[in-house]
Amino acid sequence: MTTDIDLAAADRLLTTTRAVRKRLDLDRPVERQVLLDCISVAQQAPTGGNSQRWGFVVVTDAEKRRRIAEIYRAASGDYFEQSKDRALAKGDQQTARVYDGAAYLADVLDRVPVHVIPCIRARFPESGMSSTDAAGVYGSIAPAAWSFQLALRARGLGSAWTTMHLYREREVADLLGIPENVTQVALFPVAYYTGDTFSPAARAPADTVTHWDGWTAR
Ligand SMILES: Cc1cc2nc3c(=O)[nH]c(=O)nc-3n(C[C@H](O)[C@H](O)[C@H](O)COP(=O)(O)O)c2cc1C
Repeated sequence: MTTDIDLAAADRLLTTTRAVRKRLDLDRPVERQVLLDCISVAQQAPTGGNSQRWGFVVVTDAEKRRRIAEIYRAASGDYFEQSKDRALAKGDQQTARVYDGAAYLADVLDRVPVHVIPCIRARFPESGMSSTDAAGVYGSIAPAAWSFQLALRARGLGSAWTTMHLYREREVADLLGIPENVTQVALFPVAYYTGDTFSPAARAPADTVTHWDGWTAR
């Protein structure tokens, strides 16, 4: 079967878009247009009822990035270091490397040239929400946010999906004037990456997570 997609290139993009932290180029500026191009790609993502209630807050102002980094570090405390130590104690090197990178990112976040906060114009009621409604809200922004990261990777930029600042979401909302009826879903540090390419990560074989014709207890 032929399609208009270069399958090898598509699979390479999908399997090598990693969480980039230590390879973010902190000194190279990022052009506004490349960010707009990536947001334009992201806007092709699906949304419930075609609602398209997304918003991408792009922060380049140095003082605001400094403040966001401060909030991020206050929210994370020593969580990344402690998690790294726990992973090392269990001999789980892959997870230890993730937390080592996460701690590094927290340290340098203010120096990452761009912070992007994907948002959705929706709010969870304090009293809780049905899983169907929650699926509708996050399902209407997560595909776009991931498309944004894929589009960055294809253009030589890296990012990492982070959520730590959401423990202090309101402080960042106040800093950036994000209204109360808008939910922040992540914080992406964005920069050109150093080095040439990335490799796929080790994952369990697909048949170990696939359930044919019904859930198989494993
Ligand atoms: C919902 C979610 C929350 C995450 N939160 C953080 C975070 O707060 N800080 C961080 O450095 N990485 C965070 N990550 C990145 C993960 O650590 C990373 O995706 C995972 O280790 C896999 O690494 P890889 O994408 O390179 O395969 C988060 C990822 C997701 C999907």
